[in-house]
Amino acid sequence: VSRPVRIGLLGAGTVGRGFLELLGRNACSIEERTGLALEVVKVLVRDPRRERPGVARSLLTADGESIVHGACDVVVEALGGIEPARSLLAQALEHGKPVVTANKALLASEAGSALRGHARHEASIAAAIPIVRALEEGLVGDQVSELTGILNGTCNFVLTLMAETGATLEATLAEARARGFAEADPSLDVDGHDAAQKLALLAELAFGVRAGRVRVEGIRGIEPEDVKAARALGYVLKPVAFARDGGESLELRVHPAFVPLSHPLASVRFEDNAVLVRAAGAGELLFRGKGAGALPTASALLADVVAVARGEPARRIERPAPPKEPVRGAPPAGRSRYYLRFPVYDVPGVIGRIATALGRREVSISHAEATLAPEKPGQGHVKVLAHETSDEALREALEDIERLPVLTGRSVAVRILA
Ligand code: NAP
Ligand code: HSE
Repeated sequence: VSRPVRIGLLGAGTVGRGFLELLGRNACSIEERTGLALEVVKVLVRDPRRERPGVARSLLTADGESIVHGACDVVVEALGGIEPARSLLAQALEHGKPVVTANKALLASEAGSALRGHARHEASIAAAIPIVRALEEGLVGDQVSELTGILNGTCNFVLTLMAETGATLEATLAEARARGFAEADPSLDVDGHDAAQKLALLAELAFGVRAGRVRVEGIRGIEPEDVKAARALGYVLKPVAFARDGGESLELRVHPAFVPLSHPLASVRFEDNAVLVRAAGAGELLFRGKGAGALPTASALLADVVAVARGEPARRIERPAPPKEPVRGAPPAGRSRYYLRFPVYDVPGVIGRIATALGRREVSISHAEATLAPEKPGQGHVKVLAHETSDEALREALEDIERLPVLTGRSVAVRILA
C-alpha cells in the first residue's frame, strides 16, 4: 500500500475551506479512480486559535515556513495577495515540492512571473471551468486568434442581481461578498483588475506571448438605471473581457458591455463565467460554468493536485516563434458602438444640447431619450445609443459635455458588443 499524498494547504478562507470540504466528500472516490490517497496534513491561517467550522484545530498553524519546509508532498495556495504567498511557493519549489495555486493576482504580477510555468493554476481563472487545460492541452495543435469572456464572477453576480431586483451596486456587492465570491479587496473585482489579471494569463496561454497592457474599465459607475436601459433596448449588461491576436499587435480589454440577447454570453448569469474561444482549426468553442465560490474553485484545485501527484507538473506552452517581431501591448485605437447616459437637470432643450455636442465630434446617434428621476425632483437622465465611433472622438465629446451646465453628475459610457 503506497502512503498518502500529503498536502500542505495555505489558507482556510472561502477557497481553503471549500478544498477541505470537497476533499472530505470525495477522497474515497478520488482514490478509487486514481489510486491516490490525498490527505491534508497542515493548514496555514493568520490566527490558529480561531474556531473554524469543518477544520480540525490540530491542523492549523500560523507558521507557513514549517509547512513548505516540512513533511508534505504538495503545497496548495489559497491565501491571495503577493506576500507571503510568493515567497512560500518559491520556497516549496526550491524544496522540490510541486505547487498548486488559485492566486491570479500573484501569477499575473511581476513578482509572480518566476512562478508561471512552475505552479499549476487551473483554479486561478474562471474557477471550475477547465480553461487552462483546454488551452494547454486541448488546443495545443491549433492557433487561437480570439477570446471573449466573462471572467469575474462577482461583477457578473452584481449586474445580474441589479437586473433582477433593481438594487444598487453597493447592495448587490455586499451580497457577493457574503457569498465569498469577492476578493479580500473587492475593488479588484469592481474596478476590473481581477478580470484583467485573468485575461493576461489566458492570453499568455492562448497566444504564447506575455501580454502587454490590458485596457481596463470597471463597473463602478453603473447604476440600476443602466441595467434597466440595457434590458429595455434589447441587451443585457455584462462584464466582458476580450483578447485578440492581431498578428502585429495584441488587443486586450476588460469593460462592461451591452450584450445582444442573442449573444452566447447574454445568458451567463450570477457568478457563472464563460470563455468563447476562436481557433483556426477548431472554430468557435464555448466554455461556461461557475467562476467563483468555494466548491467550484476547490474542484479545480483538486484536479491540479491529482495531476501533480501523478507526476504531471505545470508547463509553459512553447509556441513557434512568430515570423516577425510583433509590437505587443499597443492596442490600436478602438472603435465601438456605445450606450451613453447623462444625469441632467430637467430643462428644456437638454437632449438637443447633448446631441449637438456629440455631433460636433462626429459621434452620431441612433437613439436618444430623456427620462425623469422620480426620486430626484427636477432631475433626470438622457440616454443615447451612438453609432460606431472611435474611443478618441467619444472621449472628446464627453469632455465637451461635462463642461455644459446641464449635468448633475458623471456621464456613463458602455460599449455595445457586436
Ligand atoms: P479569503 O476568504 O480571504 O481567505 C484567505 C485565507 O488565507 C484565510 O484563511 C487567511 O487566514 C489566510 N491568510 C491570508 N493572508 C495570510 C497570512 N499573511 N498568513 C497566514 N494566513 C493568511 O480568500 P479566498 O476567497 O479564499 O481566496 C483565496 C485565493 O483564491 C485568492 O487568491 C483568490 O483570488 C483566489 N480565488 C478565490 C475564489 C473565490 O471564489 N473566493 C475563486 C477562485 C480563486 P485567516 O482565516 O486567519 O484570516
Ligand atoms: N473574485 C473572483 C471573482 C473570484 O469574483 O471572479 C474568482 O476568481
